[in-house]
Amino acid sequence: MSKFPESVKIVDVGPRDGLQNEKNIVPAATKIEFVNRLTASGLKTIEVTSFVSPKWIPQLADAEEVFRGIEKMPGVSYPVLVPNEQGMQRALAAGAKDVSIFTAASESFNQKNIHCSIAESIERFKPVMALAAKHGIRVRGYISTVIACPYEGEVSPDVVAKIAKQLAGLGCHEISLGDTIGVGTPLKVQRMLAAVAAVVPMQKLAVHFHDTYGQALANIHACLELGVAVVDSSASGLGGCPYAQGATGNVATEDVLFMLAGMGIETGVDLAKLLEAGNFISQALQRAPQSKLGRIPADSRRNP
Ligand code: HMG
Ligand code: MG
Repeated sequence: MSKFPESVKIVDVGPRDGLQNEKNIVPAATKIEFVNRLTASGLKTIEVTSFVSPKWIPQLADAEEVFRGIEKMPGVSYPVLVPNEQGMQRALAAGAKDVSIFTAASESFNQKNIHCSIAESIERFKPVMALAAKHGIRVRGYISTVIACPYEGEVSPDVVAKIAKQLAGLGCHEISLGDTIGVGTPLKVQRMLAAVAAVVPMQKLAVHFHDTYGQALANIHACLELGVAVVDSSASGLGGCPYAQGATGNVATEDVLFMLAGMGIETGVDLAKLLEAGNFISQALQRAPQSKLGRIPADSRRNP
């Protein structure tokens, strides 16, 4: 028996996951306008930016300016990524009310991404969680490479489940399961999700698919069937991950909305307005200058 949810929360991660890996850097004012347009589409959660090292992610070096500049609608969450206590302090100073911490299910990927082991990352998150509790901030936890790692190959669902349990134990209200390099297929992602849902309630889980091999919608459908009701996506399918060579953008929000509408699943998002926001940022990216540090050449994107 399938357990398709009646409604789904879409988390649009385009301004962060999308723009962090586009080789063209768009001005802060354009990012602000993009987020405002996403808000106007009816999205209830929009991941705005990252308070990470600008040396590693120059595309998001304007995190403070962007976060402060966006219109914040009541009832809409605007989470930001924080890798460590320093990032959390910056997020707090900018006025963030929702943050996301991130680790991975493979050691090599974590080392490349945040320069520490998985166990060290959990230690790093403790002061972040303490600050969050003190300031009444909600924390989402991400796990990358939940299906496979670009350096180590296949990842066991049990490893993902163990880390998800640790993040839930730290106090994360939601845990997003990231197929960073987009190599998941429907039965594999169901096995991974089922293993995690055995230790963390399904209501706390989100799925985060990159669309390298065009499997993301099929994977989302497979996870909806198991009852997941939070889906990450990017308007226009922007982005990728700078530490996963060849990984393409997130599944496009437009495509997810179209599928969910066809299935009679509520999202509260206006597809026409979302399309306008996607067109706006796509055109801005074409006009924007290229980053000297853009890491993934377009022609390598299908060869992880
Ligand atoms: P590190 O070099 O190990 O850090 O980087 P450190 O503590 O040794 O500090 C070194 C320098 O960085 C110092 O500056 C710090 O001040 C500075 P210096 O003294 O050399 O001038 N620094 C910072 N600056 C600003 N904000 C901060 C911060 N922390 C330290 N928060 C660090 C460790 C994690 C900071 C670095 O590796 C980093 O920023 N990495 C970026 C990782 C990232 O953003 N990756 C992409 C997001 S994850 C993702 O996309 C996956 C996801 O979408 C899910 C999926 O698809 O799987 C979420
Ligand atoms: Mg991602």
